[in-house]
Amino acid sequence: MLRVLVCVSGGGTNLQALIDAVENGQIADTKIVRVISNNKGAYALSRAAQHCIEGVCISPKDFADREAFNEAFLQAVDEAAPDLIVLAGFLVVIPPQMIQKYRNRILNIHPSLIPSFCGTGYYGLKVHEKALERGVKVTGATVHFVDEGTDTGPIVLQKAVEIQAGDTPESLQRRVMEEAEWILLPKAVELFAQGRIIVENGRTVIAE
Ligand code: GRF
Repeated sequence: MLRVLVCVSGGGTNLQALIDAVENGQIADTKIVRVISNNKGAYALSRAAQHCIEGVCISPKDFADREAFNEAFLQAVDEAAPDLIVLAGFLVVIPPQMIQKYRNRILNIHPSLIPSFCGTGYYGLKVHEKALERGVKVTGATVHFVDEGTDTGPIVLQKAVEIQAGDTPESLQRRVMEEAEWILLPKAVELFAQGRIIVENGRTVIAE
């Protein structure tokens, strides 16, 4: 049974896509064992509770400094003994010691086609605002492993979404979620559960 821990900060629609994919059998032999949020008001925690998944809130605001938070956060992760960690809209920097400990076992979903519109400061609506500002004809979403950089780890899956006339950042964000994120993230977890994601020289190969 693959043990998955999901880290969230907001509405949790990507978490919901994972929950649904586990419950409908798309992702076999897998259990979401814990959801961690830095935001006690995150609706993602309500989604977890509705599906009897343990939710834990750990916020940097509750600690004297970042080092103390990092220690408590890593402890809360280790306690769940995860095989895979999924960052689903998690807005906290992952401690370096955690990246080392869970090398190529932390997946992140980013709402653009990396390496476009990513890196420090590119999250949420900002990503879509910049895509529309640049005038790209295609955007999308990316699932990648997390390394020490920001959105720089090995890319696992990507899916393109066409820009439509009249798109606003909000309408584009919604379509990227519906047509890309909510499909890619469960698919990536399914592939990981099947042991089919191979990392070589900073790139991934999906085994048949
Ligand atoms: C999504 O757009 C995701 O790509 C980004 O943060 C947002 C999270 O949304 N990383 P939700 O909390 O999963 O609804």
